[in-house]
Amino acid sequence: MHKAVFPGSFDPVTCGHLDVLARAARLFDEVVVAVLENPDKQPLFTTAERVRLIQVAVAEAGLQNVTVDSFSGLLVEYVRLVGARAVVRGVRGVSDVAAETMLAQMNRRLNPAAETVFLPANPEYSYVSSSLLKQVASLGGPLAGLVPPHVAAALQAKWPRSAADRNQP
Ligand code: PNS
Repeated sequence: MHKAVFPGSFDPVTCGHLDVLARAARLFDEVVVAVLENPDKQPLFTTAERVRLIQVAVAEAGLQNVTVDSFSGLLVEYVRLVGARAVVRGVRGVSDVAAETMLAQMNRRLNPAAETVFLPANPEYSYVSSSLLKQVASLGGPLAGLVPPHVAAALQAKWPRSAADRNQP
């Protein structure tokens, strides 16, 4: 039984995350998406909202071997708790690889039993990040194709004014 954890802030989940998740679900028997509950950060969506948005996307994609959970504290402790052997991270380019390598090496020191696996992002989503999408949404820009429709609706609900409204004199 090869179980992996796919951790992240997922504030909110994007098509890039979901592409990596679907590919991880083909590589491992079971994948647990682990949403970070970080008391130091003020996310746009609550932990429960972020979990729910991913659960809906997972159900829509029919990913039967994927579950969604949240965690706080050290990732490697959570990995140990759920009995996983791998951590999956998507990497969009060299800057992600540099940052993720340091994270993976620290995690390896903290728990040598957990291996980190990098999956290169689909080039279609290599520029997509939750932060950029929040910026686009806050300015009323279109989100189609970058997040699933239910996530776009959740983002748009946070900033109901459209781009057209903004440019009215
Ligand atoms: O989606 P993100 O924000 O890039 O995800 C980062 C995440 C959640 C993978 C990372 O911040 C994390 O693992 N945080 C938990 C604390 C931890 O274990 N940090 C690494 C060792 S110091």
